[in-house]
Amino acid sequence: MYLQPLLCVFWLLSLALMLEEASPLNSVPRKFVPFHRDNAHLFSEMGVFNYTTMLLREDLNLLVLGARESVYALNLQDISKELASVKWEVTKQQKTDCNHKGKDSEIDCKNYIRILHKRKDDRMYVCGTNAFDPVCDYMSYADGKLSLEKKGEDGKGKCPFDPFQRYASVMVDDTLYSATSMNFLGSEPVLMRSSAVPIRTEFKSTWLNEPTFVSMAQMPESEESEEGDDDKIYLFFSETAVECDCYNTPVISRVARVCKGDLGGKRTLQKRWTSFLKARIECPVLESQLPYIIQDTYRWCDPQQNWKDCLFYGVFTPQLDTDMSAVCAYRVSDISRVFAEGKYKNPVAVETSFVKWVMYSGEVPSPRPGACIDNKARDAGISQTLQLPDRTLQFIKDKPLMDQAIQPIGDKPLLVRKGAKFTRVVVDQVQAVDGGKYHVMFIGTEVGTVLKAVNYDGEMFIIEEIQLFQRPCAIKILKISKVTGQIYAGSDNGAAQLQLATCERALSCMDCVLARDPYCGWDQVVGKCIALSKAERRLIQSVKEGNATLCPAADIVRPMNQSIGPGGNLKLSCLPPYNLAKTSWEMDNGHQLPSAHLQLLPDGLLILNASHRDAGRYRCLSVERSRAVNYTTIVAEYEVRIASTGSGKALTVLPEAQTNGPSVVGLWVVIGLLLVAFLALLTWNFYKKHISLPCKREQKNGAHRPQSQMTDPL
Ligand SMILES: *[C@@H]1O[C@H](CO)[C@@H](O)[C@H](O)[C@H]1NC(C)=O
Ligand SMILES: *[C@@H]1O[C@H](CO)[C@@H](O)[C@H](O)[C@H]1NC(C)=O
Ligand SMILES: *[C@@H]1O[C@H](CO)[C@@H](O)[C@H](O)[C@H]1NC(C)=O
Ligand SMILES: *[C@@H]1O[C@H](CO)[C@@H](O)[C@H](O)[C@H]1NC(C)=O
Ligand SMILES: *[C@@H]1O[C@H](CO)[C@@H](O)[C@H](O)[C@H]1NC(C)=O
Repeated sequence: MYLQPLLCVFWLLSLALMLEEASPLNSVPRKFVPFHRDNAHLFSEMGVFNYTTMLLREDLNLLVLGARESVYALNLQDISKELASVKWEVTKQQKTDCNHKGKDSEIDCKNYIRILHKRKDDRMYVCGTNAFDPVCDYMSYADGKLSLEKKGEDGKGKCPFDPFQRYASVMVDDTLYSATSMNFLGSEPVLMRSSAVPIRTEFKSTWLNEPTFVSMAQMPESEESEEGDDDKIYLFFSETAVECDCYNTPVISRVARVCKGDLGGKRTLQKRWTSFLKARIECPVLESQLPYIIQDTYRWCDPQQNWKDCLFYGVFTPQLDTDMSAVCAYRVSDISRVFAEGKYKNPVAVETSFVKWVMYSGEVPSPRPGACIDNKARDAGISQTLQLPDRTLQFIKDKPLMDQAIQPIGDKPLLVRKGAKFTRVVVDQVQAVDGGKYHVMFIGTEVGTVLKAVNYDGEMFIIEEIQLFQRPCAIKILKISKVTGQIYAGSDNGAAQLQLATCERALSCMDCVLARDPYCGWDQVVGKCIALSKAERRLIQSVKEGNATLCPAADIVRPMNQSIGPGGNLKLSCLPPYNLAKTSWEMDNGHQLPSAHLQLLPDGLLILNASHRDAGRYRCLSVERSRAVNYTTIVAEYEVRIASTGSGKALTVLPEAQTNGPSVVGLWVVIGLLLVAFLALLTWNFYKKHISLPCKREQKNGAHRPQSQMTDPL
């Protein structure tokens, strides 16, 4: 049995190696933009940390930023300009009490601002962890000042106690919907509405089982609804799975929803949601791999369209420590349909200690359990959830889980990337020169970079990866403003603001067009890469094809003269301009690469022990593949002369940066041997029937039976 974790690792390793080989799945950013002060406007204050809560006030031209014990009002156009701030610190007494309960007074016993929402009366609702005793307040911005009203409203169930615990909230019609833990220990998770009569979830593991809350969003589903449906609140989270039909993995991603008009039941489910339904949500990165875990979602809606066309973009990370992350998109209408029409899952006791969840095929009471009050219910004389019959309520109390899982659009991810894990996502829609409307994803990572990525008809493409902060630290919040055309990112050490369109980074037409960035195009008249929104004439752009044939011929590179004495060493430098470009060398003197005295370096070419036959033209070319065409540009050109005197020994470079050495081959040999050993082990294990499937774990509840038997009909 102890072999299984080892086998898991090997299995995943071999998968990873296969991926590395095939690699259409893993997209590499075309450009990496290292940290530079001009990349983004930055904001942070000495001694203040955890800038992880944001509220865009486009109406006031403000970014309201919540940090530890402070709230800031920043200029939305340039967040490095602070307009106002207000401190919200815990008292000495609160700190002492918190410390006495066993919490660290310098870390846990502080006030972390966690909730910031706009109210209709223009005030803001703000909550903080307040030394493990969450509290909420009202805040306003007037005459250039931020002020708290010190109302001291109870924040239990609205805001987490623990600053390290994830939570989610949304404000709908001045009512807060929150998903967090209600108690000090963090063991009572709830999805709650803070209305006059608060409504929340049951404390039952079938409702929420050690959840990690991720995000919430409102959906106006009552709009033009023929069924007289209600608006919904969606919640994304991950939790320990109760249904064990997916390699028995402990954690699974979920979407749940409740109806806005839910008032709870009369006897059964009193002050509890009668409309809480949840389903599994999948982002299948590879067949038969462990399910990925949801980390964030972004609700994208076209303002001109019905809610049915809204999408949820979600970022997912793996459970085991591989380093692939993914983005999947879901149609709200697909999610909605599963809840409105899908089958339920039913817990069935298999053995005394083990419950198996199977599809429920018995009779479903009417009104449909978990449905909002609609015209059909009203026709039956039920105009609010308080009038729902016990049968319906008991059903939903026991079976809030849907049988069917929610699949992403196209049944696969829009983006997969190996490397730093994805943390947050926002999405913008841009109309390109070709008239098409494209979705651009901005994805925050664990190391403080933002990826700008697109998916053109199934082709994943990362336009660039921008390093926002000098030191790597995870992006913990990401917001987008169409009004300012900016992205706002928050991390523990600071906040940053980034333009959606950063066209000026491309200096040549080729670079501009091959970036395939729908925001940018090449203006032939001024000879610049500019944003479409600022264009005065038709620009050269080719987002789907990356076809740069319309670009004018590039400027001719002037050859540089280099001279070297016989027997000397000379390095000709040449850096590939982008990650996706490969460099190669062309020589008029007929030399071939590599040879004993010509060595290829990652950043150039090394001539060793020069002799007269090495004289001549050396051209460094960069080749960028773009769908059908390979574009070649001259990066550098050298005219090498051999001086007749032996004076050229000065330019000696040690060839230490050599890459294609035997060490790499050695590594592959070792990996190959390991794989052979692993396969032999696997075969032996199959033969001995020690294992049935890779990565299968023990039953959580101690049922020692192989998977194949578990799925037998009962
Ligand atoms: C707050 O920021 C500090 C400094 O970066 C970090 O060490 C700490 O983990 C953060 N706390 C929370 C609750 O995120
Ligand atoms: C690239 O664009 C040019 C001009 O628009 C067109 O003639 C050519 O066929 C295109 N090439 C490819 C490979 O699509
Ligand atoms: C290289 O040398 C040639 C001939 O001596 C000269 O015409 C040219 O200007 C030089 N190029 C550079 C870049 O100095
Ligand atoms: C350098 O090249 C010369 C002839 O071109 C040869 O005689 C000599 O042995 C070479 N030196 C080294 C160190 O390879
Ligand atoms: C582009 O270059 C690659 C290798 O550098 C080659 O395999 C491929 O055939 C080329 N494609 C075209 C369309 O020329």
